[in-house]
Amino acid sequence: MLSTQLLSWYSENKRNLPWRGTKDPYKIWISEIMLQQTQVATVIPYYKKWMNSFPNIQVLAHTNYDDVLKHWEGLGYYSRCKNIHLTSKVLGKDFPDTFNELIKLPGIGEYTAKMILAIAYNQTEVGIDTNLERIGFRLLGLKKKSKFNNNRVKNFLETIQDKSKPGDFNQALMDLGSNFCQAKAVNCGSCPITVYCKAALTDSPLQYPEVKKNKPIPEIQVAVCVIIYKNKLLLIQRPENKMLAGLWEFPGGKIESGELTENAVIREIKEEINLSIKNVEYLGEVKHQYSHFKVIISLFSNTVNDISSLKIKENYIWTTMKGLDKFALPKANYKMLELLNKDI
Ligand code: ADE
Repeated sequence: MLSTQLLSWYSENKRNLPWRGTKDPYKIWISEIMLQQTQVATVIPYYKKWMNSFPNIQVLAHTNYDDVLKHWEGLGYYSRCKNIHLTSKVLGKDFPDTFNELIKLPGIGEYTAKMILAIAYNQTEVGIDTNLERIGFRLLGLKKKSKFNNNRVKNFLETIQDKSKPGDFNQALMDLGSNFCQAKAVNCGSCPITVYCKAALTDSPLQYPEVKKNKPIPEIQVAVCVIIYKNKLLLIQRPENKMLAGLWEFPGGKIESGELTENAVIREIKEEINLSIKNVEYLGEVKHQYSHFKVIISLFSNTVNDISSLKIKENYIWTTMKGLDKFALPKANYKMLELLNKDI
């Protein structure tokens, strides 16, 4: 049987990952949220550090959000972190063991709820993420992505699931996806369930399911200024409802079409923090790619002597270079720091 073969392969070959070997729903929850849209190798050090600092939900709930966010710095999709913290505060110490309760919590969707139920509580659930979906499409030999086919895959995986080891079943499919059945590479010859796979019988298993061509991603030009006052740098906290929520950054903004970069930075600084700056110094260009767009940042610095007109809506701080360590910054800001004079 497919699931027997899969589980016997898994018991011999499973990856030794730090969230395996526990049934603590808190740990499973954190690992599953970190693993969304993020590769296993990237998650491992973040997960270990997190569990060192926040070994249980009570500790997490009682930690100040800036400290929590610092543990997420660089992992991306920061609303995940915000939602984890919110959920920790909602829950207190009891972790729910039903789908209906889990799904109501901030940041927990169908996939995460089912993975927690399967791994931590041994309930017969299949959490279908892009890995499991891809494997299902290949096993069934389906090409076309449609609601109907997605449902067929879901029903199929639920039917073949091993009822005695639901957590292992889910995680075995994850490992299969990473070892033999990736989106852009397969090794059907070594796959333990290749005899059950319709796509493996064809010359082009990678075409199951069909791949959509990626749209070219837009580029945004931004001008940013490091404002220096009494040897300290100005950092502003990004608002809760925007991307990179809660992270700290230098002021600046989009360059309008046709606008000179230097004029843009002067205008942005006036609009964002109400300072009139002159003689900005150009430090260089930083490029950074997010999932849906690319930014090209022209970086300037300006030393000011008078901040009496300063007006900032968001939280802000003046910090030394050393003091920056305490704050979570977007990755692009670390690239900018490399262009800055380190003596500040
Ligand atoms: N990706 C998402 N969940 C995972 C898990 N539990 N193990 C490995 N990779 C995963």
